[in-house]
Amino acid sequence: MSQEVRGIIAKSKGEPVSMETIVIPDPGPGEVVVAIQACGVCHTDLHYREGGINDDFPFLLGHEAAGLVESVGDGVTEVAPGDYVILNWRAVCGDCRACRRGEPQYCFDTHNATQKMTLTDGTELSPALGIGAFCDKTLVAAGQCTKVDSAAPATAAGLLGCGVMAGLGAVINTAEVTRGQSVAVFGCGGVGNAAIAGASLAGASTIIGIDIDDRKLEWAKGFGATHVCNSKETDPVEFVKSVTNGFGADVCIEAIGNPAVYKQAFEARDLAGTVVLVGVPRPEDMIELPFIELFGRGGSLKSSWYGDCLPSRDFPMLIDLYLQGRLDLDGFVSETIGLGDVEEAFHKMERGEVLRSVVVL
Ligand SMILES: NC(=O)c1ccc[n+]([C@@H]2O[C@H](COP(=O)([O-])OP(=O)(O)OC[C@H]3O[C@@H](n4cnc5c(N)ncnc54)[C@H](O)[C@@H]3O)[C@@H](O)[C@H]2O)c1
Ligand SMILES: [Zn+2]
Ligand SMILES: [Zn+2]
Repeated sequence: MSQEVRGIIAKSKGEPVSMETIVIPDPGPGEVVVAIQACGVCHTDLHYREGGINDDFPFLLGHEAAGLVESVGDGVTEVAPGDYVILNWRAVCGDCRACRRGEPQYCFDTHNATQKMTLTDGTELSPALGIGAFCDKTLVAAGQCTKVDSAAPATAAGLLGCGVMAGLGAVINTAEVTRGQSVAVFGCGGVGNAAIAGASLAGASTIIGIDIDDRKLEWAKGFGATHVCNSKETDPVEFVKSVTNGFGADVCIEAIGNPAVYKQAFEARDLAGTVVLVGVPRPEDMIELPFIELFGRGGSLKSSWYGDCLPSRDFPMLIDLYLQGRLDLDGFVSETIGLGDVEEAFHKMERGEVLRSVVVL
């Protein structure tokens, strides 16, 4: 028996989101229905709404969530009804060319539910990042559920499902930051501030937060930034050099998806340093860099998808750090909201008023 629940849909490009009745099929083989307890509003949800990811409207938005497994389909052994899980968008296949060469964090064929969730008229929905969790319940592949300690509240735990993992992992996994390094983070929203928290956990000694909004920079200090720069007022490249003995940072993280800011990150980096792109560019964006500088500065230019995380390895470990008081996930929760408040949360995000609005169900 399928069931009907409430969910938040983006029907067409730019149109405000709306609450609709969603039909959730019973879990088939390898599938799981999860009752969502909390789901953060990530900028990627807004990218979907604006047609910046693809044109597969209508989207069932929301992808940064934690909840309880309600029912499981045939052959599911990883989780059982009642398990407390964080949803992930990297259920690795174990069989693609990345998995086979021992790099499952790049898995090119991650699993999602096979059946479709629909509107009541049968219209098939595209769940954001294969999750769709601005919804009372959602249908995912079993591998998309990662069991964690239920002592962590869902408002905090769910954030590891996307933005916090993406920022933290960009620093710890992708850039492999270690003790004593300097890290500059461009864009201090939820993702950028998670990069700052990651740099602090990894023992970086100089951590520079850069944003155009002073509120974000205040939060950055709370997550461990040793220096902050409002790039509307101060040239960020000169600023980074001024606090790194004139050299630039070992690691520069771009957490906006803005080509002009990427260029700043490129220029603010020390010789042989690393630039990591975490922000999602728009399809029309282009970037031009002096070719000689690409060679002359050496080092590496990387992109980080989902913080190069392995959910089964990273989520339980980060929840342990949270429960020990060493990773402040609650600091990302600017407000808790209802399911009907997602559109307003997008506007608050655009106005820079929040790090994360978290829908509580
Ligand atoms: N790579 C991944 O796997 C992954 C995962 C999640 C999110 N993302 C992407 O990361 C980006 C950030 O997401 P978020 O949820 O933190 O968004 P956000 O809107 O909360 O944060 C963006 C921040 O950038 C700042 N900013 C905007 N323009 C700026 C400029 N010119 N110079 C300096 N700062 C500027 C804003 O003030 C804001 O603080 C988005 O593009 C999102 O899609 C990527
Ligand atoms: Zn794979
Ligand atoms: Zn996200």
